[in-house]
Amino acid sequence: MASKINRKIAIRNSRNIGALWRRHTFLFRNLYRLLRRRYRAFQKRDAVIGQFSVKKPSSSVGSLDLNRWCFVTDLLRPEDWDDLKSSWPSTWEFDPVKRRETQKIYDTGFRCMEGEFPPRIDRYPNLFATYQLFSSSEFANQISELCADGVKRTCYHIVSNVSWWGSSLVPHTDTFREDDLDAKFHINLIYFVDSNGTGWDSGGTAVLSDSSYDKPIFIPTNLNNSALVYRSYDLLHGFPSVKFGKFRKAITAHFRPI
Ligand SMILES: [Fe+2]
Repeated sequence: MASKINRKIAIRNSRNIGALWRRHTFLFRNLYRLLRRRYRAFQKRDAVIGQFSVKKPSSSVGSLDLNRWCFVTDLLRPEDWDDLKSSWPSTWEFDPVKRRETQKIYDTGFRCMEGEFPPRIDRYPNLFATYQLFSSSEFANQISELCADGVKRTCYHIVSNVSWWGSSLVPHTDTFREDDLDAKFHINLIYFVDSNGTGWDSGGTAVLSDSSYDKPIFIPTNLNNSALVYRSYDLLHGFPSVKFGKFRKAITAHFRPI
């Protein structure tokens, strides 16, 4: 759920030619992808689950303590990142953007809720290993270390997504229940796995100062093995339409206090 949305920007984003093409071919794409998945379901294979380990990011900009966000590079070990990137699932493994979608225009898949791993993820051992890493207490502790607030956290939600020409994320804040006293301690991590561009050309999710793209506070440039980590409560974020010929693949993970 998203709050503080500027409807005009959402409509403008959804009318980008690349987005229109994807949205209006939803039915065809969805049918094709469901059939592909069903066909592949008969081709059983044993997956060997890799083991990715926690490492300290190489460098960071911003501060989760002072700015409520930070950007880290080299999140995974280079060899793990290479494995993940080269074995990323095919497009048909992701649900296509729906026809009426105007706020989050990209494909999503492999949704993991409360530690319950999604079906078919065992076919992608490196993606599975990344999900297991993000779900581990060691990784959650590292996030809390970045926050420097002494709050212990757990990862409760992970989802992968693929962005393409015309993809966008309208500026918004995440929505919490009014009586959720833990809301201020929630952390989102957007792990940029792979892209062929930098910054807003390729869908670098930015931290924004208002509900437009006019006054960005921080736009990530390196979208390869890097991550934007932010306190999702009341912090505006989003990215404008991805440029023609550009893409980015990402995994988003959400953490809350325990
Ligand atoms: Fe969000």
